[in-house]
Amino acid sequence: APTPPPDLSSCSIARINENQVVSYSCCAPKPDDMEKVPYYKFPSMTKLRVRQPAHEANEEYIAKYNLAVSKMRDLDKTQPDNPIGFKQQANIHCAYCNGAYRIGGKELQVHNSWLFFPFHRWYLYFYERIVGKLIDDPTFALPYWNWDHPKGIRFPAMYDREGTSLFDVTRDQSHRNGAVIDLGFFGDEVETTQLQLMSNNLTLMYRQMVTNAPCPRMFFGGPYDLGINIELPGTIENIPHGPVHIWSGTVRGSTLPNGAISNGENMGHFYSAGLDPVFFCHHSNVDRMWSEWKATGGKRTDITHKDWLNSEFFFYDENENPYRVKVRDCLDTKKMGYDYKPMATPWRNFKP
Ligand code: C2O
Repeated sequence: APTPPPDLSSCSIARINENQVVSYSCCAPKPDDMEKVPYYKFPSMTKLRVRQPAHEANEEYIAKYNLAVSKMRDLDKTQPDNPIGFKQQANIHCAYCNGAYRIGGKELQVHNSWLFFPFHRWYLYFYERIVGKLIDDPTFALPYWNWDHPKGIRFPAMYDREGTSLFDVTRDQSHRNGAVIDLGFFGDEVETTQLQLMSNNLTLMYRQMVTNAPCPRMFFGGPYDLGINIELPGTIENIPHGPVHIWSGTVRGSTLPNGAISNGENMGHFYSAGLDPVFFCHHSNVDRMWSEWKATGGKRTDITHKDWLNSEFFFYDENENPYRVKVRDCLDTKKMGYDYKPMATPWRNFKP
């Protein structure tokens, strides 16, 4: 059956793991009447938002984006229940991924299944519009962390400026300052040259995008079954999506700036990932891979199963209004009003 949107009235505590709960509520503000939340309609638009690689962003753009995020962070203090505040936006991820939402008593989880790509696409869609609204720029488009290209293979410098609102103190300090990312990172540093690492990354991308993902089932992951931990992630969700999270967050077991023991915060854990602004930059590239994958041809097309197409989520838009959205309405980014600035995809030539 299609997955319905979460029932906000039964939202409860989120868990970090079996022994630890999230110390605050990450439930979204409840709409007056959940039954009356309307379906979202795309507002009319005049110009596509074009998402660009973070490493190409100019100072003007960086300043604008910083301004927007600082406004969102201000809302956390002045209007903590405003759904377009930074923490509220981060909490969306926590609520959908750490067991806060239930539907008919069954826990909802948007990872490790075919819900992964559409959920995150809708999530970024609204986040991008919120950012644009706060700086009065209806064409504002998110940057993408171009980790599938050698030029984007480091932590994006625009997020690495201390004291700015795109910075986050809970990151692995040894992965700053131009360290090349290992797209297969699960916690162990590999001893190798930067050049070798880059070539490994491109080979890995080829494998996840081409060899191992010849059909929708492999790319998107398995059908979702509400309340069941199916653990059937698609190729890209598994790697490099997961490794980029882990590589960015603090080392598990180390001490966080607030004195607590790290669970990988912020980027390396579902409940906290959205608290690091780079989350949306990372996911922008994950989302771009969906488009690149379809452009690869063969049987690489969207899922046609009704249970997927009719699955739904719940979000607030930039005007703080609640909406239900369907998977079927997020298959074409241009219809949604955005696209990606094309970049070369050198991994296409890295057939192992
Ligand atoms: Cu919802 Cu990158 O995870």
